[in-house]
Amino acid sequence: MTEFKIDITLTENPKQKPDFAHLDFGKNFTDHMFIVDYTKGKGWHDARIVPYQPITLDPAAMVFHYGQTVFEGLKAYHTSEEEVLLFRPDMNMKRLNRSNDRLCIPHIDEELALNGIKKLIDLEREWVPTAEGTSLYVRPFIIATEPYLGVAPSKRYQFIVILSPVGAYYKEGINPVKIAVERQFVRATIGGTGNAKTAGNYAGSLKAQEVAEADGYSQVLWLDGRENKYIEEVGSMNIFFKINGEVVTPMLNGSILEGVTRDSILKLLAHWNIPVSERKLSMEELYEAYQQGLVEEAFGTGTAAVISPVGELFWENEKLVINGGKTGELSKKLYDTLTGIQLGTESDPFGWTVKV
Ligand code: COI
Repeated sequence: MTEFKIDITLTENPKQKPDFAHLDFGKNFTDHMFIVDYTKGKGWHDARIVPYQPITLDPAAMVFHYGQTVFEGLKAYHTSEEEVLLFRPDMNMKRLNRSNDRLCIPHIDEELALNGIKKLIDLEREWVPTAEGTSLYVRPFIIATEPYLGVAPSKRYQFIVILSPVGAYYKEGINPVKIAVERQFVRATIGGTGNAKTAGNYAGSLKAQEVAEADGYSQVLWLDGRENKYIEEVGSMNIFFKINGEVVTPMLNGSILEGVTRDSILKLLAHWNIPVSERKLSMEELYEAYQQGLVEEAFGTGTAAVISPVGELFWENEKLVINGGKTGELSKKLYDTLTGIQLGTESDPFGWTVKV
């Protein structure tokens, strides 16, 4: 096992903590952050925890110009036993390195990254909120820091982890969200960067998101970038439908993000012997099923979004109301089970939680 030394510098000015009972998503940050530098020829070095502070970068730093950056999102939960649990963090570390591959960023040692995350959370234990529906969101990211305007992989990077106590991602909380099927723009196409967690995918989604929000929808449902026909994912989550007793989710095809929550839901459904398939699902097929009254539930899955029921889909000038706009039985059961495992109140048959 490689031993990495992590230097710790404590803040002299701890922040006032926000009201943990009324937390927005991603607006408050803890007292410290974890940083590791990378220099070509030297590898990842100088792992350290330092007071949370602005970072200074050269204006020519490559991340600003060509978007060479990746990120992750995971959560730490406060249990009733006063423990802090992470949920499948190894999956996030693996996905981080898959994103690195796609963006020509050097792999980071997964153990170093995870040890840094655990040490940082351990130091910030008092920031892990306890109110229902809250958690400590962990945002690891890597940026290209070499000052150079040529289009090439950077020779220098920083891996940084920041922490944010959060409440629900959507203002609707666990109540169903309304989603508009996007017809004008595409998010990703096969061979692109759709399955990497990289900033450009999100920057490119903002226009559609802005239009949808102006029309009263929380997010957009993206169709495939080639035929504009097959359902892919929602802005910040993967999507599932329960159609005539079977749960269907778009199969991973290189342009869909490989969600950790998505994988966990597939495993839970299989564990409960609920028929589930990962396959291509066109909007036409879904619409036909809807007309026949066969679409029983829809829900999104994601670290930030958890399980988010979808009560309405806007498609070709028609509002498709799903399950009367209410949270479905399966969505509720999945939400309760998943959050129960994460909070340590339900048994964890897959060994998903990791103590900090
Ligand atoms: C997450 O669910 O953790 C994400 O990274 C989605 C983000 C866009 C909020």
